[in-house]
Amino acid sequence: MPESIQRTLILVKPDGVRRALVGEVIHRFEMKGYQIRGLKMMKLTREKAERHYAVHKGKAFYDELIEFITSGPLVAMVLEGPGAVAIARKVMGATRPHDAEIGTIRGDFANQTRQNIVHGSDSVESAQYEIPIYFEESDLV
Ligand code: RTP
Ligand code: MG
Repeated sequence: MPESIQRTLILVKPDGVRRALVGEVIHRFEMKGYQIRGLKMMKLTREKAERHYAVHKGKAFYDELIEFITSGPLVAMVLEGPGAVAIARKVMGATRPHDAEIGTIRGDFANQTRQNIVHGSDSVESAQYEIPIYFEESDLV
């Protein structure tokens, strides 16, 4: 059965921008065959960061996560293609550095849980929630 065409939100987080990995991250998703429907660099406001990570509010790492994601510019993009949500997560690698396989973005470039270079929506519903935080519909092609 063919994969359905999906859209997902990908972020190159502030650590990825600081480490000059923007091109590398975009390249890996382009190599995997995904199309970029929206792309922008921005500094996330605290309000948008809290909206994005509302699901983690109350967790031990929440405050530091909000500090981190607003600590400098990030690059947001909407990728589209077959199975984009789950397959982009495979390209990214697991959240915990011990679990992120070599060959994934996190496996190759991250050695800790928080500053882990990249974000990807974890479900179609999450993507539909997250994309409007970063993009107006008219920003997307
Ligand atoms: P993301 O949402 O950023 O794509 O990452 P994820 O799904 O792989 O992981 P998630 O559980 O959603 O956590 C969101 C982000 O919070 C930071 N985090 N820190 N124990 C910790 O210190 C901890 N746990 C999570 C990471 O930046 C993680 O990507
Ligand atoms: Mg997540």
